[in-house]
This record gives sequence, C-alpha cells and structure tokens, in this order.
Amino acid sequence: MKRYLQAPNRSSAATISIMAGRDKSLTHRAIMFSSLSEGRSQIHHPLLGADCLSTISCFEALGVKIDVHGDEKVEVLSEGFAKFRQPTRDLDCGNSGTTARLILGILAAQKNLNFRLIGDESLSKRPMKRVVIPLRKMGASIEGSDDGNFLPLTIKGQTLHAETHQVDKASAQVKSCLLLAGMFSDGTTRVSLPKGSRDHTERVLQKMGAKLETRVEGDLEEIALTGPFKTKSMDVKIPVDPSSAAFFAVLGILLTEGRIEMPDVLDNATRTGFMKVLARMSQGLSFTSNQAQSIGFVEPVGLLAVQGGMPLVGTDISEEEIPSLVDEIPILAVAAAFAKGPSLFRGLSELRVKESDRLMLTGELLKASGADFEIRGDDLWIAGGLKDVTPFTFDPEGDHRLAMSAAILARRCKKPCCILDSECVRVSFPNFYEALGAVDTF
Ligand code: S3P
Repeated sequence: MKRYLQAPNRSSAATISIMAGRDKSLTHRAIMFSSLSEGRSQIHHPLLGADCLSTISCFEALGVKIDVHGDEKVEVLSEGFAKFRQPTRDLDCGNSGTTARLILGILAAQKNLNFRLIGDESLSKRPMKRVVIPLRKMGASIEGSDDGNFLPLTIKGQTLHAETHQVDKASAQVKSCLLLAGMFSDGTTRVSLPKGSRDHTERVLQKMGAKLETRVEGDLEEIALTGPFKTKSMDVKIPVDPSSAAFFAVLGILLTEGRIEMPDVLDNATRTGFMKVLARMSQGLSFTSNQAQSIGFVEPVGLLAVQGGMPLVGTDISEEEIPSLVDEIPILAVAAAFAKGPSLFRGLSELRVKESDRLMLTGELLKASGADFEIRGDDLWIAGGLKDVTPFTFDPEGDHRLAMSAAILARRCKKPCCILDSECVRVSFPNFYEALGAVDTF
C-alpha cells in the first residue's frame, strides 16, 4: 500500500509521550525459551510484529500451545523440548532472520525429528552458512542450496557435541544460535567473536542459572556455556524496543519545537549505541535509567526524552560502534543529512545482507530526498546541511527499517512524499503510523 506523508502544518511546544513498539529481539527469545521449557510461561507486552508471529508459528508446528491475548500477553504452554512433535508442515520464518538463525541451533539438536525451514523471498537470499557451518562442526545435519547457505533448509535432528567456535562477525544471531545448540550438547561450547553484539541470550541463560561465562580480551569476547542445560518457564514483561524508539528520537531532534518522551525503553548498552551518537549530534537527547520501573521486565528500562529545536551537528561513527546500532544506520543517516557539517559511518558491510541491501537503499533514500552523500566501499559519507527536501517516491523493497526512515524524512518535506509498500513496517513496529500520527497532531 502506498502512503503519502509530509511536514505537518503546525508545530507544538508541548511534550508528547509515545509508546514505541516492544522489543523484537527479546520477544523472539522469550517465545523460544518458553517453548523449550516445561510448564506455563507468560510474556507480557510482547511485540506482535510479523517476525515474532513467525517464531510463534514455528513452535506451534512443534506442538507447543501458544495463546495470543492481543498486545497484552502471550501465554506459552509447553511440555518441554523433549516432547516436541514431528511437524506436518514446513516451518515458515517469513521475513525473520532472527527466527531462522536462532531456531536452527534448536532444531539441529532435536534427535529423531526432521524439519524443513522456509522463508519469504528476502530471507531466502540471506546467508545461513554463518550458522550452518559451525553447527555442522557440532554434528548437525543441515542441507540446502549453495552448501546450506540458503533457505529452504532441511534439518535432521542429531545428538550434538560441544565445540569451540571462532566467529569473524559481531553477530548476535550467530552467537545465540551456537549457544542454543550448546544447551543441548555435553561439555563446554565456546564462541569467540568481535565484541559488542547484543547479549540478550547470555542474560536469559545466566538468569536461569546456566553455567555461562563471558570474557572480553582486546577486541574479542568469548562466551563459554556448559551443557546440557534445561531452561525454566518464565513470567516476564518486554521493554520498548530501542530500535523502534530510534525513529521517534530522530523525529524529536528534527522538530522545531516540542518534546517527545518514551518510557520503558530497554536499557542495555549493546542496543543503545544510537543514543550515544545522537547525544554527540545534539544536546536535545537524554536517557534516564529507571531501576524502580524495571522490576518484572526481562531487562532494565529507562526514559528516553528528546527536545526539538536544538542545533544538530555531524559526527563520525566508528566500526567498533556498529554492533550496538546495527539496525539504526538508516535513521541515523536521515539525522546526519540535516546536521551541520559532514558525517562518516564506517564499516557497514553487514548492512548489505540485512532484509535488503540496506547500505544501497539508504543511499537511494538520501538521493531521492536531495541529500548529498557518497558510499565509499563499506563506508557512508553524508555531507549534511539538507534544507529543502525534494518530494520523493521511495520503494523500501519490503525493508521495514527503510520504510520508517523514509516516513521520518518525509516529515521534513513541504510537499507529499510517497512510500511504496508502506505496510512492511508490520515486521517490527505494527503501530508505527498511529504513533507518527499522534506526533503530527499534538
Ligand atoms: C538480532 C541481531 C542482529 C540484528 C537483528 C536482530 C538478534 O543481527 O540486526 O535485527 O535479535 O539477535 P546480526 O546478528 O546479524 O547482527
């Protein structure tokens, strides 16, 4: 569906509170760990984006009973992984790389069960070898085209054994997949990788009493998990997703006046790198941890507040910072386009294998809006100083984060801009346009 957006007619000096979408990474993990655990789990305020619904549908196919009570709660009733049943249909991961990569670590270890994993057109082009090769080292049987690099994949569950892995990317999906496989393996599974990727899987395992240690040495982190380890059912609340809040943080910074506040945003340094970058660019951003409010949440939360009408300056983002803001590059590029002075984002190679070639598409969006930029290998240079946005038509190619970045950019254009396939935002932030509408009218 096409959607037309432009700058609102009036601005407001008031403060508006926005509830951004709940956290995608944490919802995926809560559904997965609950499904593996015997008993009844309750997940309050889950994200019911298309990606998390794909995870739910995969575990339902394994015989887990999952009741969705609207946005309020998901209840998971499982007899534990030992009672997973042979699915009678393909497991469909839809658009979700997290579902596909993490579930592979679980399925590979389900002895005597066979699975076929499929996904949509975008996911079927995304590389799976990064998890398939190390899983095979643990004894997994996984087959698919290009030596198991692409969905559809067929998996024959096996008894896995612990292994030591050297991973060359700071990828939480790879790390989590191997730790999940490690839960089913005798001995210590070690994963060494460049530091800084999100650590939600480690936190859940540690909270549940797993023997898990993380050691950081220079630029590397090593996680050691001793298996086998059985998880327990849970009762948790999901915080607001910093990656969704980031769109409203940039919108707030681009407002000429007024203030946007977002409560209950996940407070985890492996996810909040964009806040550090925006704080370097503008004095308008503040994030306050809220220990008292954090009780019951799966991880701590804080209040993110952004004041409009403050000067915005360009910044450099180093390669080391990328893991903590890997999903926020397109929206940070939008902020950089309006900043005074140039910005340079370094080391963006992973963006080429996201839901789209995100580096290329971020360039397309900047170009369509009239911003001056260059893609230099895997780096992105943005001149800054954009004043009059050229009215644009933009095709996000089904990539939710590009559609939302285009919507925020359109808010600075005096004439209507058209976003094609605008509904792809449902992948991670189904209520995005309602939240945007609330800012328009406040
Ligand atoms: C995710 C990890 C990141 C991120 C993705 C979610 C996760 O991917 O981009 O949106 O939940 O583990 P990589 O592990 O490929 O960096």
